[in-house]
Amino acid sequence: MQQRKSVVMATMAVCLVLLSQGVVFAGETTYRFDPVTQSSRAMEFKNTWEGYKLYQSNCKSCHFRGNDKGARFLDTDSRTMRGWNTVFYKKNVQCAKDGSWAKLSQKELLAINDYLYSKAYDTWDPRSNKSCG
Ligand code: HEC
Repeated sequence: MQQRKSVVMATMAVCLVLLSQGVVFAGETTYRFDPVTQSSRAMEFKNTWEGYKLYQSNCKSCHFRGNDKGARFLDTDSRTMRGWNTVFYKKNVQCAKDGSWAKLSQKELLAINDYLYSKAYDTWDPRSNKSCG
């Protein structure tokens, strides 16, 4: 009886360890402090997916390789996380100044910033699975 009880206890201990590991991984949400709105933004799919679509249609429309708009090829890893925040905070890149961003609302620019931040040059971390997919 005593032996059976310890087997049960051991099994429970293993389950608890696995469970706590699982919770740690699943609960890993990254936040971006947005300097424009002075607020914290959760890097969740709803923000970054919206941003991805807007980026494809409003930024990549010019910044694709071999374009004839005089725009350099850009990718999410052309800037660091801070670098992308700076682009959207200062808006001092040529296209932001010449009105190419004018049709985008503040909300849309936030979403694009979220997406670019979430895939920036320095986001890859070999210890996590965040960069897979
Ligand atoms: C109408 C075309 C056009 C659109 C749309 C456009 N850009 Fe640009 N962008 C340019 C041009 C032209 C330049 C100046 C040449 C250069 O540095 O690539 C530029 C410059 C930049 C630069 C500086 C490039 C560097 O490497 O220093 C960044 C960053 C940038 N754009 C980001 C964006 C983002 C983000 C969007 C979408 C919100 C966007 N652009 C939309 C044409 C465009």
